[in-house]
Amino acid sequence: MQFPDVAWWQKGVLYEIYPRSFQDSNGDGIGDIEGIRRRLDYLVWLGIDAVWLTPIYRSPMADGGYDISDYRDIDPIFGAGPGFDRLLTEAHSRGLKVILDFVPNHTSDQHVWFIESRSSRDNPRRDWYLWHDPAPDGGPPNNWRSNFGGSGWEYDATTGQYYYHAFLREQPDLNWRNPEVRKAMYEVLRFWLHRGVDGFRVDVLWLLIKDDRFRDNPANRAWQPNQPDVDRLLQRYSADRPEIHDVVAEIRNVLDEYPDRVFIGEVYLPVNRLVSYYGRDMKGAHLPFNFQLIFATWAAAEIKRITEEYEAALPNGAAPSWVLGNHDQKRIATRVGASGARVAAMLLLTLRGTPTIYYGDELGLTDVPIPPKVVQDRWEKNEPGFSRGRDPARTPMPWDHSMNAGFTTGTPWLPLNDDYQIRNVTACLADQGSILNLYRRLIGLRRTYPELCFGRFATVYADPDLLAFERSHGDVRWLIVLNFAHEQRQFHLPPGSPSALVVLSTCLDRENEHVRVALQLRESEGLILKLLP
Ligand code: NOJ
Repeated sequence: MQFPDVAWWQKGVLYEIYPRSFQDSNGDGIGDIEGIRRRLDYLVWLGIDAVWLTPIYRSPMADGGYDISDYRDIDPIFGAGPGFDRLLTEAHSRGLKVILDFVPNHTSDQHVWFIESRSSRDNPRRDWYLWHDPAPDGGPPNNWRSNFGGSGWEYDATTGQYYYHAFLREQPDLNWRNPEVRKAMYEVLRFWLHRGVDGFRVDVLWLLIKDDRFRDNPANRAWQPNQPDVDRLLQRYSADRPEIHDVVAEIRNVLDEYPDRVFIGEVYLPVNRLVSYYGRDMKGAHLPFNFQLIFATWAAAEIKRITEEYEAALPNGAAPSWVLGNHDQKRIATRVGASGARVAAMLLLTLRGTPTIYYGDELGLTDVPIPPKVVQDRWEKNEPGFSRGRDPARTPMPWDHSMNAGFTTGTPWLPLNDDYQIRNVTACLADQGSILNLYRRLIGLRRTYPELCFGRFATVYADPDLLAFERSHGDVRWLIVLNFAHEQRQFHLPPGSPSALVVLSTCLDRENEHVRVALQLRESEGLILKLLP
Protein backbone atom coordinates (compact mmCIF):
# COMPACT_ATOMS: atom_id res chain seq x y z
CA MET A 1 0.00 0.00 0.00
CA GLN A 2 1.19 3.50 -0.80
CA PHE A 3 0.34 6.42 1.45
CA PRO A 4 -2.77 7.80 -0.21
CA ASP A 5 -2.75 11.39 -1.36
CA VAL A 6 -4.85 12.78 1.48
CA ALA A 7 -4.74 15.88 3.65
CA TRP A 8 -1.89 16.10 6.19
CA TRP A 9 -4.25 15.92 9.14
CA GLN A 10 -5.55 12.54 7.98
CA LYS A 11 -2.15 10.91 8.13
CA GLY A 12 -0.57 13.02 10.85
CA VAL A 13 -0.26 12.80 14.59
CA LEU A 14 -1.51 15.81 16.56
CA TYR A 15 0.05 17.00 19.80
CA GLU A 16 -1.69 19.31 22.26
CA ILE A 17 0.43 21.90 24.04
CA TYR A 18 -0.86 23.79 27.04
CA PRO A 19 1.40 26.82 26.51
CA ARG A 20 1.50 27.94 30.15
CA SER A 21 3.17 24.65 31.00
CA PHE A 22 5.44 23.71 28.13
CA GLN A 23 8.55 25.86 28.47
CA ASP A 24 9.16 29.21 30.11
CA SER A 25 11.76 31.43 28.44
CA ASN A 26 11.70 34.59 30.59
CA GLY A 27 11.73 33.29 34.15
CA ASP A 28 8.20 34.36 35.11
CA GLY A 29 7.25 30.75 35.84
CA ILE A 30 4.75 30.62 32.98
CA GLY A 31 5.40 28.88 29.68
CA ASP A 32 5.44 31.06 26.57
CA ILE A 33 5.69 31.10 22.81
CA GLU A 34 9.44 31.53 22.74
CA GLY A 35 9.67 28.49 25.02
CA ILE A 36 7.68 26.42 22.54
CA ARG A 37 9.92 27.62 19.72
CA ARG A 38 12.99 26.44 21.61
CA ARG A 39 11.50 22.97 21.99
CA LEU A 40 10.53 22.43 18.36
CA ASP A 41 13.39 20.03 17.79
CA TYR A 42 12.03 17.78 20.51
CA LEU A 43 8.67 17.65 18.73
CA VAL A 44 10.39 16.81 15.46
CA TRP A 45 12.36 14.07 17.21
CA LEU A 46 9.14 12.66 18.64
CA GLY A 47 7.72 12.53 15.13
CA ILE A 48 4.47 14.44 15.49
CA ASP A 49 3.02 16.42 12.58
CA ALA A 50 1.14 19.27 14.18
CA VAL A 51 0.84 21.11 17.45
CA TRP A 52 -2.42 22.51 18.76
CA LEU A 53 -1.90 25.38 21.17
CA THR A 54 -4.66 26.12 23.68
CA PRO A 55 -5.51 29.85 23.69
CA ILE A 56 -2.65 32.33 23.55
CA TYR A 57 -4.80 35.40 22.94
CA ARG A 58 -5.09 38.45 25.16
CA SER A 59 -7.06 37.42 28.21
CA PRO A 60 -7.64 38.26 31.89
CA MET A 61 -7.03 34.49 32.40
CA ALA A 62 -10.14 33.78 34.46
CA ASP A 63 -10.32 30.44 32.64
CA GLY A 64 -6.77 29.77 31.52
CA GLY A 65 -7.14 31.94 28.40
CA TYR A 66 -10.56 30.62 27.35
CA ASP A 67 -11.83 34.08 28.28
CA ILE A 68 -10.57 36.22 25.43
CA SER A 69 -10.53 40.00 25.53
CA ASP A 70 -8.89 40.48 22.12
CA TYR A 71 -9.01 37.75 19.49
CA ARG A 72 -6.35 39.39 17.34
CA ASP A 73 -3.69 39.93 19.94
CA ILE A 74 -1.43 37.63 21.90
CA ASP A 75 -1.38 37.89 25.67
CA PRO A 76 1.80 39.47 27.07
CA ILE A 77 2.38 36.46 29.35
CA PHE A 78 2.96 34.39 26.22
CA GLY A 79 5.23 37.02 24.66
CA ALA A 80 4.32 39.97 22.53
CA GLY A 81 5.77 41.14 19.22
CA PRO A 82 7.00 38.96 16.40
CA GLY A 83 7.40 35.82 18.53
CA PHE A 84 4.35 34.09 17.18
CA ASP A 85 5.29 34.63 13.55
CA ARG A 86 8.75 33.35 14.30
CA LEU A 87 7.29 30.24 15.90
CA LEU A 88 5.10 29.72 12.86
CA THR A 89 7.95 30.13 10.41
CA GLU A 90 10.30 27.88 12.33
CA ALA A 91 7.65 25.22 12.88
CA HIS A 92 6.82 25.26 9.18
CA SER A 93 10.46 25.05 8.20
CA ARG A 94 10.65 21.83 10.23
CA GLY A 95 7.53 20.43 8.60
CA LEU A 96 5.33 21.02 11.65
CA LYS A 97 1.86 22.53 11.39
CA VAL A 98 0.46 24.92 13.99
CA ILE A 99 -3.21 24.76 15.01
CA LEU A 100 -4.74 27.44 17.21
CA ASP A 101 -7.71 27.31 19.52
CA PHE A 102 -10.76 29.28 18.41
CA VAL A 103 -13.17 30.18 21.20
CA PRO A 104 -16.40 31.36 19.56
CA ASN A 105 -18.99 30.54 22.25
CA HIS A 106 -18.01 33.30 24.65
CA THR A 107 -15.69 36.24 25.11
CA SER A 108 -14.19 37.66 28.26
CA ASP A 109 -16.38 40.15 30.10
CA GLN A 110 -13.43 42.50 29.47
CA HIS A 111 -13.82 42.27 25.69
CA VAL A 112 -14.81 45.64 24.25
CA TRP A 113 -17.85 44.02 22.62
CA PHE A 114 -19.21 43.01 26.00
CA ILE A 115 -18.27 46.28 27.67
CA GLU A 116 -20.34 48.05 25.01
CA SER A 117 -23.11 45.47 25.13
CA ARG A 118 -23.65 45.81 28.85
CA SER A 119 -23.47 49.62 28.82
CA SER A 120 -27.12 50.15 27.84
CA ARG A 121 -30.11 48.31 26.45
CA ASP A 122 -29.94 50.27 23.21
CA ASN A 123 -26.24 49.88 22.58
CA PRO A 124 -25.70 48.62 19.01
CA ARG A 125 -23.90 45.59 20.43
CA ARG A 126 -26.60 44.78 22.99
CA ASP A 127 -27.83 41.86 20.90
CA TRP A 128 -24.31 40.42 20.48
CA TYR A 129 -24.79 38.62 23.79
CA LEU A 130 -27.71 36.78 25.36
CA TRP A 131 -29.62 39.31 27.48
CA HIS A 132 -32.97 38.48 29.03
CA ASP A 133 -35.43 40.00 31.44
CA PRO A 134 -35.68 38.48 34.91
CA ALA A 135 -38.36 35.88 35.55
CA PRO A 136 -41.55 37.28 37.18
CA ASP A 137 -40.06 36.57 40.62
CA GLY A 138 -36.95 38.56 39.73
CA GLY A 139 -34.81 35.41 39.40
CA PRO A 140 -32.94 34.10 36.34
CA PRO A 141 -34.85 33.86 33.03
CA ASN A 142 -34.69 30.05 32.97
CA ASN A 143 -33.11 27.10 34.83
CA TRP A 144 -29.92 26.68 32.77
CA ARG A 145 -26.79 25.92 34.77
CA SER A 146 -23.21 26.99 34.18
CA ASN A 147 -20.76 24.22 33.29
CA PHE A 148 -18.68 25.44 36.21
CA GLY A 149 -21.52 25.26 38.73
CA GLY A 150 -24.40 27.50 39.75
CA SER A 151 -26.87 29.37 37.60
CA GLY A 152 -25.81 30.16 34.06
CA TRP A 153 -27.34 33.64 34.41
CA GLU A 154 -25.79 36.76 35.88
CA TYR A 155 -27.84 39.81 36.79
CA ASP A 156 -26.55 43.14 35.57
CA ALA A 157 -27.92 45.97 37.70
CA THR A 158 -27.05 48.74 35.21
CA THR A 159 -29.59 47.57 32.67
CA GLY A 160 -31.80 45.35 34.82
CA GLN A 161 -31.33 42.21 32.72
CA TYR A 162 -29.51 38.89 33.00
CA TYR A 163 -26.86 37.63 30.60
CA TYR A 164 -26.15 33.96 29.98
CA HIS A 165 -22.74 32.36 30.51
CA ALA A 166 -22.26 28.64 29.86
CA PHE A 167 -19.00 28.83 31.85
CA LEU A 168 -17.78 31.53 34.27
CA ARG A 169 -19.66 34.76 34.76
CA GLU A 170 -16.54 36.38 33.27
CA GLN A 171 -17.27 34.45 30.05
CA PRO A 172 -20.52 35.85 28.61
CA ASP A 173 -21.93 33.82 25.71
CA LEU A 174 -22.10 35.44 22.30
CA ASN A 175 -25.38 35.43 20.40
CA TRP A 176 -24.64 33.26 17.37
CA ARG A 177 -28.07 34.00 15.92
CA ASN A 178 -26.88 37.54 15.27
CA PRO A 179 -25.36 37.80 11.76
CA GLU A 180 -22.97 40.56 12.82
CA VAL A 181 -21.48 38.29 15.47
CA ARG A 182 -20.92 35.57 12.91
CA LYS A 183 -19.32 38.00 10.50
CA ALA A 184 -17.00 39.40 13.16
CA MET A 185 -15.94 35.94 14.28
CA TYR A 186 -15.30 34.72 10.75
CA GLU A 187 -13.05 37.76 10.26
CA VAL A 188 -11.09 36.57 13.30
CA LEU A 189 -10.59 33.20 11.62
CA ARG A 190 -9.42 34.89 8.41
CA PHE A 191 -7.02 37.09 10.36
CA TRP A 192 -5.12 34.05 11.67
CA LEU A 193 -5.50 31.94 8.54
CA HIS A 194 -4.01 34.79 6.55
CA ARG A 195 -1.17 34.92 9.04
CA GLY A 196 -0.44 31.30 8.22
CA VAL A 197 -1.93 29.11 10.92
CA ASP A 198 -2.83 25.63 9.72
CA GLY A 199 -6.25 25.36 11.29
CA PHE A 200 -8.31 25.56 14.43
CA ARG A 201 -9.58 23.45 17.25
CA VAL A 202 -12.97 25.02 17.89
CA ASP A 203 -13.93 25.25 21.54
CA VAL A 204 -17.33 23.82 22.66
CA LEU A 205 -18.60 23.70 19.10
CA TRP A 206 -21.83 21.96 20.09
CA LEU A 207 -22.81 24.72 22.51
CA LEU A 208 -22.79 27.73 20.16
CA ILE A 209 -26.49 27.93 19.39
CA LYS A 210 -29.13 27.90 22.09
CA ASP A 211 -32.84 27.28 21.92
CA ASP A 212 -34.56 30.25 20.29
CA ARG A 213 -37.24 30.21 23.02
CA PHE A 214 -34.85 29.59 25.92
CA ARG A 215 -36.99 26.79 27.26
CA ASP A 216 -36.11 25.26 30.63
CA ASN A 217 -33.89 22.19 30.49
CA PRO A 218 -35.47 18.99 31.84
CA ALA A 219 -34.21 17.43 35.07
CA ASN A 220 -31.67 14.64 34.82
CA ARG A 221 -33.24 11.92 36.95
CA ALA A 222 -30.00 9.92 37.03
CA TRP A 223 -28.00 12.77 38.60
CA GLN A 224 -26.04 11.91 41.74
CA PRO A 225 -24.71 14.47 44.23
CA ASN A 226 -21.10 13.56 43.40
CA GLN A 227 -21.67 14.57 39.77
CA PRO A 228 -21.05 18.09 38.46
CA ASP A 229 -23.76 20.60 39.24
CA VAL A 230 -24.38 21.21 35.52
CA ASP A 231 -25.48 17.60 35.10
CA ARG A 232 -28.52 18.15 37.32
CA LEU A 233 -30.25 19.00 34.06
CA LEU A 234 -30.17 17.44 30.62
CA GLN A 235 -28.84 20.06 28.24
CA ARG A 236 -31.65 19.66 25.78
CA TYR A 237 -32.18 23.34 25.03
CA SER A 238 -28.76 24.79 25.75
CA ALA A 239 -26.66 22.51 23.53
CA ASP A 240 -26.57 20.62 20.21
CA ARG A 241 -29.47 22.55 18.70
CA PRO A 242 -30.30 21.77 15.06
CA GLU A 243 -29.29 25.26 13.88
CA ILE A 244 -25.70 24.63 14.94
CA HIS A 245 -25.09 22.85 11.68
CA ASP A 246 -25.51 26.07 9.68
CA VAL A 247 -22.72 27.59 11.76
CA VAL A 248 -20.53 24.51 11.39
CA ALA A 249 -20.93 24.72 7.60
CA GLU A 250 -20.10 28.43 7.63
CA ILE A 251 -16.94 27.92 9.68
CA ARG A 252 -15.89 25.20 7.26
CA ASN A 253 -16.51 27.55 4.32
CA VAL A 254 -14.17 30.10 5.83
CA LEU A 255 -11.44 27.49 6.31
CA ASP A 256 -11.96 26.30 2.75
CA GLU A 257 -11.04 29.76 1.49
CA TYR A 258 -7.46 28.79 2.38
CA PRO A 259 -5.69 25.67 1.17
CA ASP A 260 -4.92 22.75 3.44
CA ARG A 261 -6.36 24.00 6.75
CA VAL A 262 -7.96 21.77 9.34
CA PHE A 263 -11.19 22.27 11.26
CA ILE A 264 -11.25 20.27 14.50
CA GLY A 265 -14.32 20.44 16.70
CA GLU A 266 -14.50 19.98 20.44
CA VAL A 267 -17.75 18.03 20.81
CA TYR A 268 -18.66 16.08 23.95
CA LEU A 269 -21.67 14.09 22.73
CA PRO A 270 -22.64 10.45 22.30
CA VAL A 271 -21.28 8.92 19.10
CA ASN A 272 -24.51 9.06 17.14
CA ARG A 273 -24.71 12.84 17.73
CA LEU A 274 -20.95 13.41 17.47
CA VAL A 275 -20.76 12.18 13.90
CA SER A 276 -23.34 14.74 12.77
CA TYR A 277 -20.56 17.33 13.22
CA TYR A 278 -18.83 16.04 10.09
CA GLY A 279 -21.58 18.15 8.57
CA ARG A 280 -24.13 17.85 5.86
CA ASP A 281 -22.42 16.28 2.84
CA MET A 282 -19.28 16.12 4.96
CA LYS A 283 -18.96 19.89 4.77
CA GLY A 284 -18.56 20.38 8.50
CA ALA A 285 -15.67 19.73 10.87
CA HIS A 286 -12.87 17.65 9.36
CA LEU A 287 -12.24 16.06 12.74
CA PRO A 288 -14.87 16.20 15.46
CA PHE A 289 -12.75 15.11 18.41
CA ASN A 290 -13.70 11.64 19.61
CA PHE A 291 -13.25 11.51 23.40
CA GLN A 292 -14.57 8.02 24.02
CA LEU A 293 -11.23 6.62 25.15
CA ILE A 294 -11.17 9.26 27.88
CA PHE A 295 -14.42 8.08 29.44
CA ALA A 296 -14.14 4.38 28.71
CA THR A 297 -13.96 1.82 31.44
CA TRP A 298 -10.47 0.45 30.86
CA ALA A 299 -11.35 -3.09 29.85
CA ALA A 300 -10.81 -4.97 26.59
CA ALA A 301 -14.50 -5.66 26.00
CA GLU A 302 -15.41 -2.02 26.50
CA ILE A 303 -12.72 -0.69 24.18
CA LYS A 304 -13.74 -3.26 21.58
CA ARG A 305 -17.33 -2.09 21.82
CA ILE A 306 -16.31 1.55 21.50
CA THR A 307 -14.12 1.05 18.47
CA GLU A 308 -16.70 -1.05 16.65
CA GLU A 309 -19.52 1.34 17.46
CA TYR A 310 -17.50 4.33 16.27
CA GLU A 311 -16.35 2.63 13.06
CA ALA A 312 -19.98 1.72 12.33
CA ALA A 313 -21.27 5.22 13.03
CA LEU A 314 -18.74 7.12 10.91
CA PRO A 315 -20.21 8.56 7.73
CA ASN A 316 -18.68 7.40 4.46
CA GLY A 317 -15.32 8.99 3.89
CA ALA A 318 -15.17 10.57 7.36
CA ALA A 319 -11.72 10.82 8.93
CA PRO A 320 -11.81 9.19 12.38
CA SER A 321 -10.29 10.86 15.44
CA TRP A 322 -9.01 9.39 18.70
CA VAL A 323 -8.02 11.36 21.78
CA LEU A 324 -6.47 9.90 24.93
CA GLY A 325 -6.21 13.00 27.06
CA ASN A 326 -6.47 16.76 27.15
CA HIS A 327 -6.17 19.75 29.48
CA ASP A 328 -9.67 19.20 30.90
CA GLN A 329 -9.37 15.54 31.92
CA LYS A 330 -7.39 13.34 34.25
CA ARG A 331 -4.19 12.12 32.65
CA ILE A 332 -4.15 8.69 31.07
CA ALA A 333 -1.41 7.37 33.39
CA THR A 334 -3.57 8.38 36.36
CA ARG A 335 -6.63 6.74 34.85
CA VAL A 336 -5.03 3.44 33.89
CA GLY A 337 -1.66 3.22 35.65
CA ALA A 338 1.88 3.12 34.27
CA SER A 339 1.72 -0.12 32.30
CA GLY A 340 -1.82 0.66 31.17
CA ALA A 341 -0.55 3.96 29.76
CA ARG A 342 1.82 2.03 27.50
CA VAL A 343 -0.99 -0.18 26.25
CA ALA A 344 -3.06 2.96 25.72
CA ALA A 345 -0.26 4.51 23.65
CA MET A 346 -0.16 1.45 21.42
CA LEU A 347 -3.91 1.53 21.07
CA LEU A 348 -4.04 5.23 20.23
CA LEU A 349 -1.37 4.93 17.57
CA THR A 350 -2.68 1.80 15.87
CA LEU A 351 -6.37 2.64 15.66
CA ARG A 352 -7.74 3.92 12.37
CA GLY A 353 -7.89 7.69 12.58
CA THR A 354 -5.95 10.78 13.56
CA PRO A 355 -4.47 10.42 17.05
CA THR A 356 -4.08 13.36 19.43
CA ILE A 357 -1.42 13.17 22.14
CA TYR A 358 -1.57 15.44 25.18
CA TYR A 359 1.81 16.93 26.12
CA GLY A 360 3.52 14.99 28.88
CA ASP A 361 1.52 11.82 28.31
CA GLU A 362 4.46 10.61 26.26
CA LEU A 363 6.45 10.68 29.53
CA GLY A 364 3.78 8.80 31.45
CA LEU A 365 3.12 11.90 33.56
CA THR A 366 0.42 11.46 36.17
CA ASP A 367 -1.88 14.07 37.69
CA VAL A 368 0.00 16.17 40.20
CA PRO A 369 -1.74 16.87 43.54
CA ILE A 370 -2.29 20.61 43.88
CA PRO A 371 -2.23 22.07 47.41
CA PRO A 372 -5.43 24.07 48.05
CA LYS A 373 -3.45 27.31 48.43
CA VAL A 374 -2.20 27.21 44.84
CA VAL A 375 -5.33 25.98 43.07
CA GLN A 376 -5.87 28.02 39.93
CA ASP A 377 -8.85 26.38 38.25
CA ARG A 378 -12.06 28.25 38.99
CA TRP A 379 -14.16 25.13 38.51
CA GLU A 380 -12.34 23.57 41.48
CA LYS A 381 -12.96 26.73 43.47
CA ASN A 382 -16.66 26.75 42.54
CA GLU A 383 -17.25 23.10 43.35
CA PRO A 384 -14.55 22.21 45.88
CA GLY A 385 -14.06 18.74 47.27
CA PHE A 386 -14.97 16.71 44.19
CA SER A 387 -11.60 16.74 42.37
CA ARG A 388 -13.20 18.68 39.54
CA GLY A 389 -10.05 20.78 39.24
CA ARG A 390 -8.11 20.53 36.02
CA ASP A 391 -4.81 21.88 37.37
CA PRO A 392 -3.41 18.40 38.18
CA ALA A 393 -3.24 17.59 34.46
CA ARG A 394 -1.82 20.99 33.48
CA THR A 395 1.47 20.96 35.38
CA PRO A 396 4.80 21.99 33.82
CA MET A 397 6.59 19.74 31.36
CA PRO A 398 9.65 18.22 33.05
CA TRP A 399 12.61 18.50 30.68
CA ASP A 400 15.54 17.42 32.85
CA HIS A 401 16.54 16.84 36.46
CA SER A 402 17.82 20.36 37.10
CA MET A 403 15.97 22.82 39.32
CA ASN A 404 12.36 23.15 38.21
CA ALA A 405 13.01 20.44 35.65
CA GLY A 406 14.38 22.91 33.11
CA PHE A 407 10.89 24.37 32.74
CA THR A 408 11.64 27.75 34.30
CA THR A 409 14.32 29.63 36.18
CA GLY A 410 11.56 31.23 38.25
CA THR A 411 8.78 29.76 40.33
CA PRO A 412 6.56 27.45 38.26
CA TRP A 413 2.93 28.60 38.12
CA LEU A 414 1.87 25.08 39.17
CA PRO A 415 3.98 22.51 41.03
CA LEU A 416 6.03 19.98 39.09
CA ASN A 417 5.52 16.23 39.27
CA ASP A 418 7.42 15.17 42.38
CA ASP A 419 9.21 12.40 40.43
CA TYR A 420 10.61 14.86 37.89
CA GLN A 421 14.18 13.88 38.79
CA ILE A 422 13.58 10.59 37.01
CA ARG A 423 10.50 11.33 34.94
CA ASN A 424 11.72 13.97 32.54
CA VAL A 425 12.46 14.18 28.83
CA THR A 426 16.23 13.84 29.15
CA ALA A 427 16.06 10.79 31.40
CA CYS A 428 13.37 9.11 29.29
CA LEU A 429 15.35 9.76 26.13
CA ALA A 430 18.33 7.95 27.56
CA ASP A 431 16.27 4.98 28.75
CA GLN A 432 15.69 2.67 25.79
CA GLY A 433 12.75 1.05 27.52
CA SER A 434 10.94 4.29 28.45
CA ILE A 435 7.39 5.11 27.47
CA LEU A 436 8.81 8.11 25.58
CA ASN A 437 10.83 5.81 23.34
CA LEU A 438 7.73 3.65 22.94
CA TYR A 439 5.74 6.67 21.74
CA ARG A 440 8.48 7.56 19.30
CA ARG A 441 8.65 4.03 17.93
CA LEU A 442 4.88 3.85 17.56
CA ILE A 443 4.73 7.16 15.73
CA GLY A 444 7.61 6.01 13.54
CA LEU A 445 5.79 2.80 12.59
CA ARG A 446 2.69 4.76 11.72
CA ARG A 447 4.67 7.04 9.47
CA THR A 448 6.37 4.11 7.76
CA TYR A 449 3.52 1.67 7.23
CA PRO A 450 0.41 3.13 5.59
CA GLU A 451 -1.73 0.16 6.66
CA LEU A 452 -1.41 1.34 10.27
CA CYS A 453 -2.94 4.68 9.25
CA PHE A 454 -5.32 3.72 6.51
CA GLY A 455 -5.70 -0.05 6.52
CA ARG A 456 -9.01 -1.72 7.19
CA PHE A 457 -9.83 -2.03 10.89
CA ALA A 458 -11.39 -5.25 12.17
CA THR A 459 -11.48 -6.70 15.65
CA VAL A 460 -10.47 -10.34 16.04
CA TYR A 461 -11.78 -12.93 18.48
CA ALA A 462 -9.66 -13.15 21.64
CA ASP A 463 -9.68 -13.93 25.37
CA PRO A 464 -12.02 -11.45 27.17
CA ASP A 465 -9.03 -9.61 28.66
CA LEU A 466 -7.42 -9.12 25.29
CA LEU A 467 -8.26 -6.62 22.62
CA ALA A 468 -7.07 -7.87 19.24
CA PHE A 469 -7.57 -6.19 15.91
CA GLU A 470 -6.19 -6.28 12.42
CA ARG A 471 -5.11 -3.40 10.27
CA SER A 472 -4.80 -4.64 6.75
CA HIS A 473 -4.66 -3.79 3.09
CA GLY A 474 -4.57 -6.49 0.45
CA ASP A 475 -2.16 -9.17 1.60
CA VAL A 476 -0.48 -7.00 4.21
CA ARG A 477 -1.94 -7.80 7.61
CA TRP A 478 -0.94 -6.28 10.91
CA LEU A 479 -2.25 -7.65 14.14
CA ILE A 480 -2.40 -5.67 17.35
CA VAL A 481 -2.99 -7.59 20.56
CA LEU A 482 -3.37 -5.71 23.85
CA ASN A 483 -3.52 -7.41 27.20
CA PHE A 484 -5.65 -5.47 29.67
CA ALA A 485 -5.15 -8.04 32.44
CA HIS A 486 -2.47 -7.79 35.11
CA GLU A 487 -1.63 -11.41 34.39
CA GLN A 488 -0.25 -13.36 31.46
CA ARG A 489 -2.63 -14.27 28.67
CA GLN A 490 -2.41 -16.49 25.63
CA PHE A 491 -3.55 -15.51 22.18
CA HIS A 492 -4.12 -17.82 19.21
CA LEU A 493 -3.28 -16.40 15.82
CA PRO A 494 -6.34 -16.00 13.60
CA PRO A 495 -7.29 -18.97 11.41
CA GLY A 496 -5.21 -19.13 8.25
CA SER A 497 -2.27 -17.26 9.81
CA PRO A 498 0.17 -19.88 11.03
CA SER A 499 2.90 -17.46 12.03
CA ALA A 500 3.72 -13.86 12.76
CA LEU A 501 6.61 -11.61 13.58
CA VAL A 502 6.65 -9.33 16.63
CA VAL A 503 7.39 -5.84 15.36
CA LEU A 504 6.95 -3.99 18.64
CA SER A 505 6.11 -4.78 22.24
CA THR A 506 5.06 -2.13 24.76
CA CYS A 507 8.06 -3.40 26.75
CA LEU A 508 10.33 -2.66 23.76
CA ASP A 509 12.17 -5.96 24.06
CA ARG A 510 10.63 -8.64 21.85
CA GLU A 511 11.32 -7.42 18.35
CA ASN A 512 11.72 -10.01 15.63
CA GLU A 513 10.42 -12.78 17.84
CA HIS A 514 8.86 -15.36 15.59
CA VAL A 515 5.44 -16.57 16.74
CA ARG A 516 3.78 -19.82 15.65
CA VAL A 517 0.08 -20.55 16.23
CA ALA A 518 -0.11 -18.95 19.67
CA LEU A 519 1.66 -16.29 21.62
CA GLN A 520 2.08 -15.47 25.24
CA LEU A 521 1.47 -11.92 26.41
CA ARG A 522 2.91 -10.72 29.66
CA GLU A 523 0.74 -8.75 32.09
CA SER A 524 -0.37 -5.42 30.57
CA GLU A 525 1.62 -6.03 27.44
CA GLY A 526 0.70 -4.89 23.97
CA LEU A 527 2.16 -6.30 20.77
CA ILE A 528 2.21 -5.24 17.16
CA LEU A 529 2.69 -8.24 14.89
CA LYS A 530 3.02 -8.69 11.19
CA LEU A 531 1.11 -11.75 10.05
CA LEU A 532 3.16 -13.90 7.74
CA PRO A 533 1.50 -15.55 4.76
C1 NOJ B 1 -13.45 23.76 26.79
C2 NOJ B 1 -12.02 23.99 27.14
O1 NOJ B 1 -11.25 22.88 26.75
C3 NOJ B 1 -11.96 24.27 28.61
O2 NOJ B 1 -10.66 24.28 29.09
C4 NOJ B 1 -12.66 25.58 28.87
O3 NOJ B 1 -12.71 25.83 30.25
C5 NOJ B 1 -14.08 25.57 28.31
N1 NOJ B 1 -14.16 24.99 27.02
C6 NOJ B 1 -14.63 26.96 28.22
O4 NOJ B 1 -14.02 27.65 27.17
